[in-house]
Amino acid sequence: MTQVDRTREHLIETYRKKAKHYDVTSRLYPAPGYPQRAQRLRAVRALGLRQGDTVIDMACGTGLNFSLLEEAIGPGGRIVGVDLTDAMLARAKDRIAANGWSNVSLVQADAADFDFPSGADAILSTYALTQVPECAQVIAHGAAALSAGGRWVVLDLKVPDNAPGWLGQLGTAVVRPFASIDEWIMRRPWAEIRAAMQEELADPSWTELFFGTAFLAAGTRAKPPVQ
Ligand SMILES: C[S@@+](CC[C@H](N)C(=O)[O-])C[C@H]1O[C@@H](n2cnc3c(N)ncnc32)[C@H](O)[C@@H]1O
Repeated sequence: MTQVDRTREHLIETYRKKAKHYDVTSRLYPAPGYPQRAQRLRAVRALGLRQGDTVIDMACGTGLNFSLLEEAIGPGGRIVGVDLTDAMLARAKDRIAANGWSNVSLVQADAADFDFPSGADAILSTYALTQVPECAQVIAHGAAALSAGGRWVVLDLKVPDNAPGWLGQLGTAVVRPFASIDEWIMRRPWAEIRAAMQEELADPSWTELFFGTAFLAAGTRAKPPVQ
């Protein structure tokens, strides 16, 4: 088993344990009072969705974004939720049934291997992509599959730029007791995501949220030039 496989197995095990209570415990994520709901709303707005659109929620977890997405796309639209962890998807399935949504499909897959369906109007990923070692590749694959004018939006946590090292360590230890904090800090996945969005998309934007503890990265698949 490679190191990447071991990390993936560890992640799945961790989220299997978290799945049952995720919807409640995530309200305290990354800390009690953190404006997570407002950040989600902002991320969904940045997708610029219209009624009837198709949107992919990458690493959707239990589907906490689905109601906001449903509001924006309506019953004529489509949501594809993708996640690595079976137990998180089982919760998402319960949510779909409880709400009677007939336009949501779920796919169990690693983001790194996911074959993005072509022609999606938007891709969203919230509080997940910095955990994916191949995050830049995921952005590139998604960008290539988007329809012209389609939007890619990533919301996730980061270490504030000016935080002293020990504060970053302490903060992320609270946030991510399950991951290798040192590896996450060293790798600076938010910087990789920023660079990939700039590389792959037109009009990339980068907004730091809540004192630099989170970011919203967005961009548009360029329209082909008019001949
Ligand atoms: C903190 S949860 C976030 C879930 C959801 N996006 C949300 O905003 O509540 C992180 C999710 O990312 C998923 N995940 C982590 N690595 C993944 C990967 N490589 N491919 C797909 N999903 C992954 C986990 O299974 C988990 O459900």
